Amino acid sequence: MDNKKITVSLKDKSYDIFIKGNILSQCGKYIKQLSIGKKILIVTQDKVPKKFINQTTKDLSKHGFNIFVLVLSSGEQNKNLTSLLTIISFAIKNKFERSDSFCALGGGVISDLTGFAASIYYRGINFICIPTTLLGMVDAAVGGKTAINIPDGKNLLGTFYQPKTILIDPNCLKTLPKKEFLVGMGEVLKYALLEKTARNPYSKSGFFYFLKTNKNNILKLKTKSLLQIITHSVSIKAYIVSKDERESGLRAILNLGHTFAHGIEQAYNYKKYTHGEAVSIGMCLASKLAQNHKLLSESLVTSIINLISSYSLPTKITELSKLNKITQSMLHDKKIKDGKLRFILPHKEIGKVKIISGIPIDEVKSLIKKEVT
Ligand SMILES: NC(=O)c1ccc[n+]([C@@H]2O[C@H](COP(=O)([O-])OP(=O)(O)OC[C@H]3O[C@@H](n4cnc5c(N)ncnc54)[C@H](O)[C@@H]3O)[C@@H](O)[C@H]2O)c1
Repeated sequence: MDNKKITVSLKDKSYDIFIKGNILSQCGKYIKQLSIGKKILIVTQDKVPKKFINQTTKDLSKHGFNIFVLVLSSGEQNKNLTSLLTIISFAIKNKFERSDSFCALGGGVISDLTGFAASIYYRGINFICIPTTLLGMVDAAVGGKTAINIPDGKNLLGTFYQPKTILIDPNCLKTLPKKEFLVGMGEVLKYALLEKTARNPYSKSGFFYFLKTNKNNILKLKTKSLLQIITHSVSIKAYIVSKDERESGLRAILNLGHTFAHGIEQAYNYKKYTHGEAVSIGMCLASKLAQNHKLLSESLVTSIINLISSYSLPTKITELSKLNKITQSMLHDKKIKDGKLRFILPHKEIGKVKIISGIPIDEVKSLIKKEVT
């Protein structure tokens, strides 16, 4: 399998992302290139297969690193202060110094948590990321946003802290439950809807078409197709982050579908829909909203909805009992600017988006209602 290297260009914080089959068993050679100390703390989750942990530790040890492993319980509920302090205490007990490193080996929960711990331990220790879920690979690991949840809400404590490198092994996806794979597909589909606006120089437009024509191979987890969707998605996110690390402009387009999604996830207490499912519904609603505002033709809206549905992802909510809760939660989204709802909407053609502000909440309510009835 080809070795792909994508650089996130952020001056002195620039780093390379390597995407390659079996990279876990060759990780030492990539990590050795970084100027870091000998000790590495691998933070992982109990559902990450042991073989991935063994491959990584074995190769790092072979390259002279002194490896410590901390296995935390899986689940979003563990992205919390207790886990953060567990990591910090473990590192203090084992005398980790600032030149040493924390390495996240797991999904987005582990990369958000370990990245946050790395950013505050001794005011910043080296951070290495090895994502093992599709969402982790195409989204959470890339871009330097770290966070934990607190009782007041999700992702309310966090930092921007870039890793030294990211290593992605598509083979890790072969053990991932289908439901978790589809969570990541929600974000992959999102990149297809915004890649032209992202003006990504690496991407020849047509990711939407690729996802349509290669659906069977992607869902059968064919390694070549996985490599293609990961590389393409990561290159888009890396490009956007390079242009706008702190989300003061272009990076906001990555929230396509997310204003709706956060409302839906919160209204159903994060139980009924996975994040990928909520984002999928959000992208369909954003497309319909674009159609209402004459930004997108009906036939393109249908194409978007059909593609999302062909990946077994939902395209609308099924009942209205939580309608008020959804819109209330949307109004409390932390990304709201000047109290006005802001949407990223598909615009003119597939791959282009536009930011629209000031859409009244009643219009949003009627749109959701119309989709269900
Ligand atoms: N920082 C960011 O920019 C950003 C972006 C998107 C999402 N996130 C965060 O990411 C988190 C969600 O990440 P996620 O979807 O990866 O969930 P997750 O980390 O909970 O992983 C999902 C499940 O898969 C298991 N798992 C991981 N790798 C596996 C493998 N290879 N085989 C089998 N099982 C495996 C995990 O133990 C867990 O049970 C959320 O907390 C979200 O806020 C962050």
